[in-house]
This record gives sequence, C-alpha cells and structure tokens, in this order.
Amino acid sequence: MSDETRLGTRAVHGGEQYVDGVKGHWGHALTVPIAQTSTYVFEDTQAVDDFVAGRSNRLDYGRYGNPTQHVAEQKLADLEGAESAILFSSGMAAVTTTLLAMMRSGQHGVIMDDCYRKTAQFCKMVLKKFDIETTFVRAGDYEQLESAIQENTRLVVSESPTNPHLNVVDLDATVALAKKHRLKVVIDSTFATPLNQRPLEFGVDLVIHSATKYLGGHNDLMAGVVLGDAPLVSAIRDYRGILGGVLDPHCAYLLIRGLKTFPLRMARQNESALRMAQYLENHPKIRQVYYPGLQSHPHHEIARAQMTGYGGVVSFDLATDLDGTMRFLDGLRVPCIGASLGGVESIISHPSTISYYELDREDRIAIGILDELVRYSVGVEDVEDLIADLDHALGAI
Ligand SMILES: Cc1ncc(COP(=O)(O)O)c(C=O)c1O
Repeated sequence: MSDETRLGTRAVHGGEQYVDGVKGHWGHALTVPIAQTSTYVFEDTQAVDDFVAGRSNRLDYGRYGNPTQHVAEQKLADLEGAESAILFSSGMAAVTTTLLAMMRSGQHGVIMDDCYRKTAQFCKMVLKKFDIETTFVRAGDYEQLESAIQENTRLVVSESPTNPHLNVVDLDATVALAKKHRLKVVIDSTFATPLNQRPLEFGVDLVIHSATKYLGGHNDLMAGVVLGDAPLVSAIRDYRGILGGVLDPHCAYLLIRGLKTFPLRMARQNESALRMAQYLENHPKIRQVYYPGLQSHPHHEIARAQMTGYGGVVSFDLATDLDGTMRFLDGLRVPCIGASLGGVESIISHPSTISYYELDREDRIAIGILDELVRYSVGVEDVEDLIADLDHALGAI
C-alpha cells in the first residue's frame, strides 16, 4: 500500500489488492481464497523448462510457497514497513530457521537473557551441536554486550520487550554497537507488535514475531514471521525450503482474518494492560509490577522513546508464597490458566510451573522466575471486569 496509508487501513487491505502485480482481488473474491494445494502443475514441458530456467515467476511445490501465504506475507510486510516477509509454521520455526540461516559453524552470537526459554534452549543445545557458540548477556547491559563481542561474532539477538520480565532493549544503543562491530541485529518484537514498535526504523536488520500471539490474535493458530530487506529474507526463504517449517494455507487464511482487527485489538489491549498495571502497582498484595508503561519501570524512558504503546502483557510478583500464588490463580474467574499470550481471551501463566518447570528452583530464582511471579496476558474483555476479578482473587490470598 502507499507510504501514507495508516496501520488500520493496511491491516484491512494490505497485500490483498494485487494479484501477481496486477490490480484486482484474486478471483474477484472480497476475502482471500485459501489455495489448499500442495502442488502446482505445468501446462507442458516447455513451462517446466521456463520455470527451472527462471523465465517464469510461479510456484511448483507447497513447501516453497502458497498464494494465500503470499498475501499474508505481503500484509505483514505492509504492517511492519518491511521490504519483505516470510512466514513459518510457528514462532520457533521462524527463530530457528533464521539463526541457522545467518550463522555457520565456528561463528558466535550474543543473545540477551530473559528471552523465550525455547530460544535460549535452541542456542545452548542445537547451535552448540554445530559448533556455533552463543553468549548470554543481561538485557539492557550494553557494556556487557560489547565485551561479549568476539572476532567471530556475527549476530546480536534480543527480544524487546522481553518475556516474561518486560525489559525494553534500547534499539538505538544496540544498533550502534552492532554497526561498530559489523554485526547483524535480530529483534524478536512479539510482545510489542508493529503497532507499538518498529525496529526496522532503528536500523535493526531482521524482526521476528511469533504470529501465534497478537498478530493472529485469537488463540487459534500457530505461525511465525521474519521481516526485513529482501536479500536477507530471501536467504532465509531458501533455508525454510530445506528445513520445511512452512505455513499451511488454511492457517495463512486465519492469520489474514486475524490481522484485519489487529490494530483495534492491540490498542484496547495496550489501554487495558496499562490500567491493570496501575491498579496492581497500588495493591498491597503485590510486591512488584513489571510493565514498561509504568513510570516505575527501569526502562520506562527507553520504552517511551521507542514505543507508541506498551503491549498487553503485565507481569507481577505477588507479596505471598507459592501456596498463596496458587490460591490467587485458582481464584481468578475470567482469565484461563495457560502458556500463551496475545489473544482476545485473557490468559494467566505461572512461569515457574509452566515454562520453567524443568529448571531447579535455585536456577529459576537466579533468573528472576520466582514462585510468586505471574504473567497476565490481557485480552479484549472489559477491563473493569478484569480488575474486579483480580480484586476478588487478591482478596483471597
Ligand atoms: C517472545 C517469543 N518469541 C517466540 C516464541 C515462540 O513462538 P511459537 O510459540 O509461535 O513457536 C514465543 C512463544 O511464547 C515468544 O513468547
């Protein structure tokens, strides 16, 4: 869409107005059709010849692409302000394929801690097997980041805001350091979304989202996306074709449908989460609230400078023990207990028993995953109901 178009319009129409570069809806259908196919056939052997020689622009097999998926990719590129986008079957497929595509044996990456646990596990278990080393540094410590850079360092990887403590990484400072050392920067912007933060405008090379979260938005699909300049994205596309984490066409359709209301949902989730964070901050049964929209958050000034909203997740430590935390979780009536976030239904998660259960308690506590830490993903319910529900459950601990 044209550069002047705003995000709400892009979310509805982006990627849908052209078919193979020609203006018009695909098959004249208002909603994007689902090309439920694994294979694309050739009219004759000459067509095969033209395709393999690069004389025709078409598809041959579903692992390399699908028209419904292409619309979703174009819509996402429109939303993020990226030249190109590539979709995957999950956020983790996006993360793992990107890291494998961008690094080779003998190279090194620096990754900010307080990241999604499976991303950390991938670095420590899988990349290590291929002789790719990673050093973890504290999110927000730029001296530690610079001192971790070695001669063979290729990449800096971070989430912002991070999961689950909502640390905000200074994108200007990170990009400046990376440029100084000729490194690429990859930001997992899942918690921010393109409504709240635009890392590419800060010079970040690639943005990743778990589209399972806010972009899909309905807790009904798994998807991941990588966005950036066309040559980089194209290199990752080659790896997706080999590693195979392609998005199914039906899922691409669900994602397109979810994206149409993404700015509406996200704006409400931003607003409700801020109200909830302010309420929690003043509650005697809460020890600490982690929400970058609060002035008390250590990275609030950075967040204010580089974000336009602070997201729909509020994490907090209760002023109680494990039993009290369980009573609180069981006392809530509106949010479901679960592992995900970003959808229309509020979900509450207890990181120490859901995502970090394999770690020893001491190791968990060392990285701030306390027994009394709770992560609340605010849905689109009425915030008054969510707060009344919290009030009731907090009263019971
Ligand atoms: C920040 C972040 N990145 C990546 C992922 C992985 O995404 P998916 O669950 O879609 O594989 C998650 C999942 O929670 C996440 O929170």
